[in-house]
Order: sequence, then structure tokens, then C-alpha cells
Amino acid sequence: MRKIVIAGNWKMFKTQAETQEFLRGFLPNLEETPEGREVVLCPPFTNLNVLSKTLHGSRIQLGAQNIHWEENGAYTGEISGPMLTESGVRFVIVGHSERRQYFCETDATVNLRLKAAQRYGLTPILCVGETKQQRDAGETESLISTQLEKDLIDVNQDNLVIAYEPIWAIGTGDTCEAKEANRVIGLIRSQLSNPNVSIQYGGSVKPENIDEIMAQPEIDGALVGGASLEPASFARIVNHK
Ligand code: 13P
Repeated sequence: MRKIVIAGNWKMFKTQAETQEFLRGFLPNLEETPEGREVVLCPPFTNLNVLSKTLHGSRIQLGAQNIHWEENGAYTGEISGPMLTESGVRFVIVGHSERRQYFCETDATVNLRLKAAQRYGLTPILCVGETKQQRDAGETESLISTQLEKDLIDVNQDNLVIAYEPIWAIGTGDTCEAKEANRVIGLIRSQLSNPNVSIQYGGSVKPENIDEIMAQPEIDGALVGGASLEPASFARIVNHK
């Protein structure tokens, strides 16, 4: 069965003190969160331990923003599966466009990271999506299709979340129309072998547009950047109707 998964990607925001402050404002709102809805927070690595202790027994699941494919080794700046699971992590974002764009992630390394996440029992959230230029050139469908084909080689679709994040909609306030996001997500689903994979939309999700986004039949959740940093706005998103 497809699950609703609402995840906050904090990117490189929030110190540990700021994280504690966020939780004071956010946690009481979870009493209204409907059953069966997964709520995930993906903070910077330095906040994982503090969150894991504070969130123990709460509705929130912990996610990380990256994972290396080796268990350990001379890979400065990277983090491994056992390090994440020891910190209580259950989900991990893989292949975010900012990783692909600024840190030279390729479909080959995305594939290695996806398989590593699953090897350590984590659920990867695979991000795919096109640039404005690719969209304008009519390449959206072929680009996403190629990303899926390469990224998902030997990946188990029983333990996977996908996020459709059009790059031009990230951090721009320029949300993809809900119906168009629904159309692309339907295309993504048609390329999967498991129809029950949850597929999120990401890109300028906010309290003002979450209801329309979640009303779309193909959309199973949201991957939220900026609006997940503020307790009231993330609470409104998590508790959408
Ligand atoms: P914004 O919600 O800030 O547009 O970011 C989306 C995103 O990149 C989530 O991973």
C-alpha cells in the first residue's frame, strides 16, 4: 500500500540549539497528525544524535541527507550506513539535485548510495527532476526516465520512496502546478516495477499549496525544504487535510 510520507529536508540549516527550539514549537502539533502518515525530519548530520534522543517514541522518523556506499574508509566528508543507523536514522535522501549539481553526484554514485542505504536497512528517498532548460526543451520525460533507469539498477523497490523535484521549482517559490506534478509522478510510477512505491512532490511546497498538491491522486507526500524550517508552517503541511 502507498504511504503518505511528508519529509522536511533541512539542507545546511539549523544548529543543535536551533533544532531544540524548533522541536519545542513543532512537537505539540503532532497530536493532530492523522494516523498512518509518516513524518520525517532530515537535519544536518550534527543534529542526528540530539534529535534521536528527543524524538524517541514520537511520531517523527529521522532521515539523513546523504550516505556513502562503503562501510568505512578514507572518504573525507562522507558518512556511512552504520554511522547513520547508530544515530537512529531510518530514511536517507539520495541524489538530491543540489548534490548532483554542486557535488558532482552522477547516476552511478546515486545508484551505489541507494543500494548502500538498503543494505543497512534504511529507506532511501531518491530525488529526480529536470532543470528549466530541460523542461523548455521538452526533455522532462526522457531525462527523468533515464535517471530512473540508471539510478534504480538492482535497487529493491519494496523499500524505496521517490521524490519528483523539478529543479526550477526548488527554493524559487515557483511551484510546479499540482496537476503537472501529478502527471509527471504518474509517468514515474508507470516506469516502476512496484506500483506501491510512495512518490512525493518537492519544490516550493508551503502551507498555501499543500492541500492542492495532496489532493492529486498520484502524489503520496512532499519533500519540503524552506517551509520545513519553521514549526508552524511545517505543522500545517504535515497536518494537511
Ligand atoms: P524548497 O521547499 O525550499 O523549494 O526545497 C525543496 C527541496 O529541495 C526539498 O528537498
